[in-house]
Amino acid sequence: LENGVRTFELTARAGETAFPGRDTATGTWGFDDDFLGPTLRAKRGETVAFEIDNTLDENTSVHWHGMHLPAEMDGGPHQEIEPGQTWRPTWTVDQPAASLWYHPHPHGATEEHVYRGLAGMFLLDDDASAAADLPADYGVDDLPLIVQDRQFDDDDQFELSADGSEPGTLGDTIMVNGTVGAYQQVTTDRVRLRLLNGSTARTYAFAFPDREMTLVATGGGLIDAPVDLERIRLAPGERAEIVVPFEPGETVRLRSESVDLGGILIPATAGGNDDFDVLEFRAADELAPTPDPSWPRSVHADHDAVAEADAVNTREFVLNTRQINGERMDMSRTDEVVRVGDTEIWEVRSTQAIPHSFHIHDVQFRVLTIDEEDPPPELAGRKDTIYLEPNRRYRLLMRFEDYADPEMPYMYHCHMLLHEDEGMMGQFVVI
Ligand code: C2O
Ligand code: CU
Ligand code: CU
Repeated sequence: LENGVRTFELTARAGETAFPGRDTATGTWGFDDDFLGPTLRAKRGETVAFEIDNTLDENTSVHWHGMHLPAEMDGGPHQEIEPGQTWRPTWTVDQPAASLWYHPHPHGATEEHVYRGLAGMFLLDDDASAAADLPADYGVDDLPLIVQDRQFDDDDQFELSADGSEPGTLGDTIMVNGTVGAYQQVTTDRVRLRLLNGSTARTYAFAFPDREMTLVATGGGLIDAPVDLERIRLAPGERAEIVVPFEPGETVRLRSESVDLGGILIPATAGGNDDFDVLEFRAADELAPTPDPSWPRSVHADHDAVAEADAVNTREFVLNTRQINGERMDMSRTDEVVRVGDTEIWEVRSTQAIPHSFHIHDVQFRVLTIDEEDPPPELAGRKDTIYLEPNRRYRLLMRFEDYADPEMPYMYHCHMLLHEDEGMMGQFVVI
């Protein structure tokens, strides 16, 4: 950090990873590493400045998922980095503390780039979150968990099946932060897990078999107040922060249980209803005490400032057969024009019985209602991505604060990456 500017260098590169139980190293991609990328961290009010080198032999990009920022810094398909080139985005972080992530977004090839390993977490801090009673010792009792599934072929290489089956490629090997069969040592009586579903197609229902967990944050930041939950469903692109209690000396596993996809019945092999271990926790014989989760009301200032009564416009989005509102993504077409400063309601609906995960760039939204009902607590906080149960109407409230740019669009799309690549994406400009 120098003069309020935090600088980062990232290099997208090819590498090799020796996964356990494999005879041959797997060809993988990563940022500054063979697989995945470093956790980035910045504080509200800081200016971040990046130098991103693409040493791959094809175009890639780096999108800041969940970040409020100018469209030309967004890292979508209009900001691809050619091989051998460097991209230098910069912006000032101005949003509440949250667990965001970054990943490539090249036109039509996002699934492959993320699958090969280009992804990492981007944690934002602010004064209000710093004053919260929450485990916050990074790597000790505050852990980012990037959960992904992978399929290997006979040569121990990642396999993206191109058979077009729904919802996309599902793997039988679960990785946490790029590690297969991982375990985590626990030294405190509570641990905060920043869960990211970084998978291309699989939806998880995270749970501990014998205890509740406390939800403290959704993808866009802390929720109103801690909520105890038995499980939390996360579709591709979604994040949640949970706090989990541990007893001295015990071994417990975070699992993914059968996912309630909202009336969509797909076989276990398609990610519908399988149960499996995600990560083992081994607690030490003595655990240091942590406080009960709580935080000051001031963390909700941004959230509270966006009121339904201020909404000046309602737009409808219908997802079906790789299209949104009957259109496939076209880089040269602007689908929606939003006025800067406006508060809007986006009504989003999937009209087919396959899973979809709807994501909007630039903004964090609040779910007003699902059909006519209030959202459950795990969907009530700030979010940028949401699983769509079929034929239900999600009313999302958001404000397009600033950053008008009539030339450069932001994206909205399904975050099941095969669907995105095949065209389930649209573009909006803020003018
Ligand atoms: Cu995480 Cu447009 O993407
Ligand atoms: Cu995004
Ligand atoms: Cu989809």
